[in-house]
Amino acid sequence: MEETTRRAIMAITSFGALAAAGAQVPAAAQERSVWDGVYTAEQAARGGPLYATECAACHGAELEGGEIAPPLEGREFVWKWNGLTVGDLFERLRVSMPLDAPSRVSRTQKADILAYLFSRNKFPVGESELASRTAWLTQIRFVAVKP
Ligand code: HEC
Repeated sequence: MEETTRRAIMAITSFGALAAAGAQVPAAAQERSVWDGVYTAEQAARGGPLYATECAACHGAELEGGEIAPPLEGREFVWKWNGLTVGDLFERLRVSMPLDAPSRVSRTQKADILAYLFSRNKFPVGESELASRTAWLTQIRFVAVKP
């Protein structure tokens, strides 16, 4: 048998095997979550100073919350977003934060700030950066407690 044909058949066969295995695994088990390393340390380091200039005035220097703004770290924050997607959270920032001028901070900068929030909430770092495209972020589940 020609090598390329053999490879193609092998690929199809292993794909079939994967699909069959996948059918037995519940959908949630295959989905990525914030516990799978969805941002990098460098990205969070870029987000820190941005948070300080754009968000800290209302949400507090330590993300503890302010007079009217809720905390962005800790139990209250993570449980509020538990079960939603990172895309939902990103859209929240994208559309409405900073509250006084949402368009002052770019999409990319908001992804960096989100990475910083994740680091402060002790979600693990990974190999690739958090994207600034909502469609991709919607595929990552926000889960409050490490599974
Ligand atoms: C001028 C004050 C102000 C600034 C600046 C500001 N926020 Fe907010 N933020 C608020 C207030 C007030 C709320 C709650 C009421 C609302 O959503 O309108 C809020 C809500 C939020 C929420 C939803 C929290 C939750 O659990 O419901 C997130 C996330 C958030 N802000 C992130 C940010 C980020 C990130 C920045 C910086 C880019 C920022 N905010 C800047 C005032 C502010």
